[in-house]
Amino acid sequence: MAQKIKNIAVLTSGGDAPGMNAAIRAVVRACSYYKVNCFGVYKGYEGLINNELEELNARSVRNIINKGGTFLKSARSKTFRTVEGRQKAHANLVKNNIDALVVIGGDGSFTGALKLSEEFNFPVVGVPGTIDNDINGTDYTIGYDTALNTVVDAIDKIRDTASSHNRLFLIEVMGRDAGDIALNSGIGAGAEEILIPEEDMGVERLIESLKKSKTTGKTSSIIVVAEGDTSGKNIFELGQYVENNLEGYEVRVSVLGHIQRGGTPSCFDRVLASKLGVGAVEALLDNKREVMIGIVHKKVTIVPLVDALKKRVHKHDKLIKVADITSV
Ligand code: F6P
Repeated sequence: MAQKIKNIAVLTSGGDAPGMNAAIRAVVRACSYYKVNCFGVYKGYEGLINNELEELNARSVRNIINKGGTFLKSARSKTFRTVEGRQKAHANLVKNNIDALVVIGGDGSFTGALKLSEEFNFPVVGVPGTIDNDINGTDYTIGYDTALNTVVDAIDKIRDTASSHNRLFLIEVMGRDAGDIALNSGIGAGAEEILIPEEDMGVERLIESLKKSKTTGKTSSIIVVAEGDTSGKNIFELGQYVENNLEGYEVRVSVLGHIQRGGTPSCFDRVLASKLGVGAVEALLDNKREVMIGIVHKKVTIVPLVDALKKRVHKHDKLIKVADITSV
């Protein structure tokens, strides 16, 4: 019979994402509801190694549901990747009488959580929080919807200036290994071309397609490029290549960068974060271990962490077709 859980710790790790505060709030308030003590860990795994924990109650998380970032702060801890680092982290969990850990983050954070669980038999639950939407076993990750809206808003603004000058813009959006942000924001903002890591379009086809668009009367163009796309060595070289091989356009490059990670979380992300945060505490109290709480077809689901860490089979094909059809 599993040990009864009395103290749960929560941390945010990896790249921050809008809605992480809402997720922390949900974990803390679910603990309060189920009469379990809750401890916040500052700076992700780094804070666990340095014993930076603080007890939180329902009032500690007031007025944060609408705030971007994470008030617990986040880090990409190199030390936690070492056995010694994880030993220190585990020793602090034991010292503080913590019975289970909720990790809000992406795949790197889940890899760390799984190691902690496997090496020390310590109960962990993951909550997917990353703007990239690249976690297997969940339809959405916290922060993705807000990031999409931020990107669409930025592209709308760039479109104004692109069309005033008859220019072609290459706009780089985040997504190291995943094209979700690029594909969906590209469709939403009416991009002419969308380049994603999962599909190699090839520069020749890109030029041909842009030439064709021009013959149909287009006077400006938007190309959304996911950060992880490998069509060019980097987006500036790709921009130069397009300018050298396409007549009639001036080319400009815009890298949206970290504005995509900030800002007020959308209602969708706040609700998602609330559902997943509550789900994480309920799963632990239901003796679930080494799992991620995800959302599939609008239902909260429990996925083994090992499966959440498997490579996601992308479901972009239909969207790619929609992008092709709507950009003629
Ligand atoms: O958190 C995901 C992400 O935003 C990726 O899209 C991006 O490649 C990376 O983080 C950037 O990380 P950092 O803020 O550490 O430079």
